Formats: sequence, structure tokens, C-alpha cells
Amino acid sequence: MPTPHISAGPDDFSDVCLLPGDPLRARYIAEQFLDDAVLVTSVRSMEGYTGTYRGRRISVMGTGMGMPSILIYATELIRQYGVTSLIRIGSCGGLHPDLSMRDVVIASGASTDSNANRLRFGGFDFAAIADFGLTRELAKVAEEREAPVKVGNVLSSDQFYHPRPDVFEVAQRMGILAVEMEAAGLYAVAAEHGVRAAAILTVSDILGSDVEMSAEDRQTSLDEMITIALETASRIDTPTSS
Ligand code: HPA
Repeated sequence: MPTPHISAGPDDFSDVCLLPGDPLRARYIAEQFLDDAVLVTSVRSMEGYTGTYRGRRISVMGTGMGMPSILIYATELIRQYGVTSLIRIGSCGGLHPDLSMRDVVIASGASTDSNANRLRFGGFDFAAIADFGLTRELAKVAEEREAPVKVGNVLSSDQFYHPRPDVFEVAQRMGILAVEMEAAGLYAVAAEHGVRAAAILTVSDILGSDVEMSAEDRQTSLDEMITIALETASRIDTPTSS
């Protein structure tokens, strides 16, 4: 049962998995938010945990940064561990002028400068969209909590230090809200396997500006995003047979 990158047993993951990029964030969520959390895998220190939140069994696992990395973990979680709802949680750089630090972005779609989805889609442009039901629930929970939230298109870039920064200007003109590095790949692999994926992100920097977030603000916005994602995950019906 173990895969090249996940050493968990066959039933160790829930059907719902939160996916932060940082494995230490997975540990933080397990320790601070989940009940009865158990470490189920740590190959290459990429920690994954399963516990409960409001009585709902939920897993959380790090993915690393960038599409190649998240594609490895998402593919193995879907194919070998039966995960059917994948919620990326992470940070993003704000592009849209209305976005402020700490705002929450829900990525209903993910454009990309990567070739990964073209490879998957026979050379054509795949519209990488989030699962509507998950996205709607994320937005609903955010609204219930009165969290400042925007829903829209993000840019999943292969480059953090982009050799062509004009790409961000074009993205801004196209109404893209923010830049991150994983959602487009996650949405495509989920589509290919007929499972559900969504992404919720906090604005950790504003492109073209040097405003910085205090450690306290970073923690507060992180906790808010984690709570929205967990609350959403806890509302997903448990499969009757798996
Ligand atoms: N670029 C890409 N990914 C990011 C950024 C960024 O500026 N900020 C947070 N994640």
C-alpha cells in the first residue's frame, strides 16, 4: 500500500484532506485544531495526519511548493488512499488592487504559465476550475464568519522569482486576483480522477509593494483560513461505503 512518497496504511487517510504547502503547517493544524490526530506518514518529512474536527474525520498533509510537488501527493492520495475532496490551503501574493494583506482568496479558477496541464490535456488549454460545491461552501463559511473574502481566478505560476515580471501585469489586467504556485495542477489532477478540489489562500504579500505582515497578523489570518477550511471539510457528507 505505501507509495513512493506516502508511507500510510490503506485506511489511514480520510476521504477529505486539507493540503497546506508546508508540512509543519500540517503538524500545526493537527496539533492545534484536530482531535485525536495521528501522524500517518512522514516520508521526506512531508507529514500527514488524520484526526477529527467537530466529529468529522479529516486528514491534513503537506504538499511542498509548486505543481510538480503537489501533483505527486495529490495523485497518490487520490489513487492509493481514496481521497475524494482535496482542499489546498496556502498563501498568495495579491495582484488585484482591491486586495489587502490578510484577505482571503478562494480560487474558483486557476490560470497558469506552466505546461503541466497542456501535457495532461493533449496540448490544449484546460480551464482549471475548482469544484463548485466545495467553493460555494468555503465562500459561505467565510461569509458566516465575516471574513474579507474574494472569489475568482488566480495565477498558478511555476516561477516565484519570475524571469518575466510583465506576466504579473498581464494577469492583473485579466482580472486575476492573486498569484500562487499549485492550484491549477491540483484542479486538473482532480478533474482527471473525477474528484473534488478547491483552494483557499491568504494574501501574504502584495506584488510590487514591500508591505510586510507582522508575525501576529500572519498567525491570525492563517488561523482564520484554517478554520474556514476545516469548517467546510466538516460539512462534507461522509461516504456511506468506501
Ligand atoms: N508568488 C507566488 N506564490 C506566492 C507568492 C508570490 O508572490 N506569495 C505567496 N505565494
